[in-house]
Amino acid sequence: MTAPAAFDALGLLREIEGIGRDPRRGGYSRHVFDDAERTLRDWFVERATRLGLGVETDRNGNLWAWWGEPGPDAIVTGSHLDSVPGGGAHDGPLGVVSALDAVARLKGEGFAPARPLAIVVFAEEEGSRFGIACLGSRLLSGEIDPARAGALRDATGRSFADAARDAGLASFGRDDEALSRIGVFVELHVEQGKGLIDLDAPVAVASSILEHGRWRVDVRGQGNHAGTTEIADRRDPMLPAAAAITAARRAASRRSGARATIGRLEPIPGGTNVIASRVAAWMDVRASSEADTRAIVEEVAAEVAEAAAAEGCEASVVEESYSAEVRFDPVLRDRLAAALGGVPVLPTGAGHDAGVLSAHVPTAMLFVRNPSGVSHAPEEGADDAAVAAGVDALAQSIRELS
Ligand code: GLV
Ligand code: MN
Ligand code: MN
Repeated sequence: MTAPAAFDALGLLREIEGIGRDPRRGGYSRHVFDDAERTLRDWFVERATRLGLGVETDRNGNLWAWWGEPGPDAIVTGSHLDSVPGGGAHDGPLGVVSALDAVARLKGEGFAPARPLAIVVFAEEEGSRFGIACLGSRLLSGEIDPARAGALRDATGRSFADAARDAGLASFGRDDEALSRIGVFVELHVEQGKGLIDLDAPVAVASSILEHGRWRVDVRGQGNHAGTTEIADRRDPMLPAAAAITAARRAASRRSGARATIGRLEPIPGGTNVIASRVAAWMDVRASSEADTRAIVEEVAAEVAEAAAAEGCEASVVEESYSAEVRFDPVLRDRLAAALGGVPVLPTGAGHDAGVLSAHVPTAMLFVRNPSGVSHAPEEGADDAAVAAGVDALAQSIRELS
């Protein structure tokens, strides 16, 4: 039986396709507590309520839509509605709309879950506004000190504490009650690579997430005039920043399966005819071991220090977040893969709230084929057949776990 049209995953994605479009970057910019993300939250509350679910917001700004009484030992599914700057339409929303579709379908079938069930929407999964990914699930599970979270600042200098207060969160931090309600968490997500294209399959179960973290590289020099300052007299922080970019590529290339990226660079003041006075660069490093991850960061830091000394600049490299490798619960992984007819099992290099929760509760992920293999960019996609297969797989997973 298919879900009522109002809860068809593709139809739900169409409903939100106009929200948070970014005309400058392309794709979507939906950042926690901004207008677009609040519109999406309201949309989710309306849709979940229409489905007969009871919606509440926890102390960390995560939304929970309950089928039946909240917890304990609940089956929880869901994802996030925020995006990276200029992101695609599916990273996050696909997990949310598929959950609504799967629950609508189960309700339509007259299915009565033997355990409570919730659809969750986690806050600030991408860390695009406050810099730390999976902030909602990290706060909930006590993986980040609330004082540290509160002091995080967005690009305008506004603190998370202030933004959270404006969003109606009186206090935030570890939420043992919310955590204790989760018996099992299954996050459906668009695949962010080509694994399912290569395997010619629509759906997979996740095995692991690469070790990953973020570092901030700061270089300070002397702001000056681009036309009048002799090359020999310059202390240009852009040169050590450029060294960081090439060093990151070199260091990652030397280690199998490793990745290092500088995708965000902020020269201050940022004028064409101005030698910058300082530059901030954010580096994302992922590898298959902590030793490799740390070695990459150390190599980059050493090259930046050398380039900074040569240019008369000062440099520092500071860790902003770190997540150990995740290996999803092998019993749950194999149980779901079997219940779904022996679908493939794939690793990923992308971080997820499921990765954070996996240290606390049995957790699994379902990946849905992305025909472009591209993610965190407007070209991200999910073909209709794969979306339908993903909803089937999620509904079947809920039946299996109930
Ligand atoms: C989130 O998508 C990440 O992997 O950074
Ligand atoms: Mn993402
Ligand atoms: Mn995501």
